[in-house]
Amino acid sequence: MPVDHDAVLSWYAAVRRDLPWRRTRDPYRILVSEVMLQQTQVARVVPYYEAFLDRFPDEQALGSAPTADVLRLWSGLGYNRRALALQACARAVAQDGWPADAEGLLRLPGIGPYTAAAVASFAFGEQVAAVDTNVRRVIERHDRVHRPARALAARAAEWLPHGRAADWNQAMMELGATVCGARAVACGDCPLERCASRGQPLPPPPRRTRGAERFEQTDRYVRGRIVAALAAGEPLPSAIAPERMARALDGLARDGLVVRAADGGVRLP
Ligand code: ADE
Repeated sequence: MPVDHDAVLSWYAAVRRDLPWRRTRDPYRILVSEVMLQQTQVARVVPYYEAFLDRFPDEQALGSAPTADVLRLWSGLGYNRRALALQACARAVAQDGWPADAEGLLRLPGIGPYTAAAVASFAFGEQVAAVDTNVRRVIERHDRVHRPARALAARAAEWLPHGRAADWNQAMMELGATVCGARAVACGDCPLERCASRGQPLPPPPRRTRGAERFEQTDRYVRGRIVAALAAGEPLPSAIAPERMARALDGLARDGLVVRAADGGVRLP
């Protein structure tokens, strides 16, 4: 079923949120936003994004900064490994320059197909579709079919309006974030009039669950608390059981997020 490009693009022009990364075509600033947005909501990202760019305005500044400073500005956003990968990217592009396209971006540390396509379309104007979970949901509901990743990518590419990839990708993300949510759906506001799920959204595909485990019981929570304490210059949290602490510290050291000091303590890299 064909998509009404004009309806989607005019809808986006009318309702688009004025987000800081939508005011630039600088690949560095766009990359920072996309990495922050990978697992974190827009509203939480905005203040971190602005503080991060104040402190690290370009790839040279980020690449040459002490990793502890990078983690200090990141801490609180979560998934701290993203910050290490982002700094590794900054070092690579400060040294070798920016790749020309999505394929080149994909070879940078920690950059997957979605982020490569987003940066290539927003910064370089490359005509590639960026498919994240939101966009996947919009396409799947519209066509009323779940597809494996490769077939979904092909379908997303088919939807791209000629020469309009940047606006189209932003519009699709906006639809997934504001109209076609995983839980909240506003079909009455949707410009996709031929959507096969209009008024009867497909349920989201089943999530891989962690069972009944609460977030406070996860290793990710403990690791985040440790990095936040070190970033704030505070002692390690005392409420964490010794064996959980030891396991978390081993994992953090393995990932390069902490280093063991000569006195047996730990610090940020
Ligand atoms: N989520 C991921 N990328 C985004 C973008 N560029 N704008 C809004 N939300 C996003």
